[in-house]
Amino acid sequence: MARASLEAIRDAAPAVLPSLLLCDFGDLKGEVAKLHDAGARVLHLDVMDGHFVPNMTYAMPIVSGLRRHTDMPLDVHLMISDPLKYAGPMVDAGADMLTFHVEAVRDAAETAARIRDLGVSVGVALNPETPLGSLRECLANVDMVLVMSVEAGFGGQKFNPIALEKLQTLRSEFPDLLLQIDGGIDATTIGPARAAGCDLFVVGSAIFKKGDYKAAISTLDDQIRSHGPPNDPDSNDLGVGN
Ligand code: DX5
Ligand code: ZN
Repeated sequence: MARASLEAIRDAAPAVLPSLLLCDFGDLKGEVAKLHDAGARVLHLDVMDGHFVPNMTYAMPIVSGLRRHTDMPLDVHLMISDPLKYAGPMVDAGADMLTFHVEAVRDAAETAARIRDLGVSVGVALNPETPLGSLRECLANVDMVLVMSVEAGFGGQKFNPIALEKLQTLRSEFPDLLLQIDGGIDATTIGPARAAGCDLFVVGSAIFKKGDYKAAISTLDDQIRSHGPPNDPDSNDLGVGN
């Protein structure tokens, strides 16, 4: 199921991925149903360990609880110091994609290969200050790059445009690589991210701080559509800055 779900993620793209960081944890089943009804097709789960990042969130029990309530692919963003220690339990809990941070590991290529051996898709994430060169050795072993547009750790931070340059560079060098952006994505920043070549847009505040998830996602989808790359038939080619 897990590798097959990579096709479901690719098919959904370009897409908004709600980040379950600001949702109502007292009603996860209801939140998942509301997000699906609002048009979400992939969920982004932010796992933080209080060590790699100063914040703590949740881990396997929440992932397995969500798994029981949805068939949507679960894209798990591991903001943890030892991703390999928890990769197996996360797969058992029902994760479809595991994204680790390049800053957290000594050998990113080996980490990616070992996660892939577990039968799931693999992403590698990098923080705004981390240069793209840090990904060189591992790119052959990953399905997706997550370009952080805020320092990993907290929702509600301001978008850092350095992410746009990284997306443009990755898109021009690797036309088929799945690209994701995470942090400070809203109706004004999502368009430039799409124009820079991004496929998957993680959104926390701009969905969960609005009452109407469907209206929030459709506003974001409209911006994705109107800022597509030049070869995107759905795009009107407005590009960065429009
Ligand atoms: C930040 C997390 C994000 C976060 C995004 O470390 O990885 O997924 O929830 O939240 P917003 O959209 O509020 O920046
Ligand atoms: Zn995230």
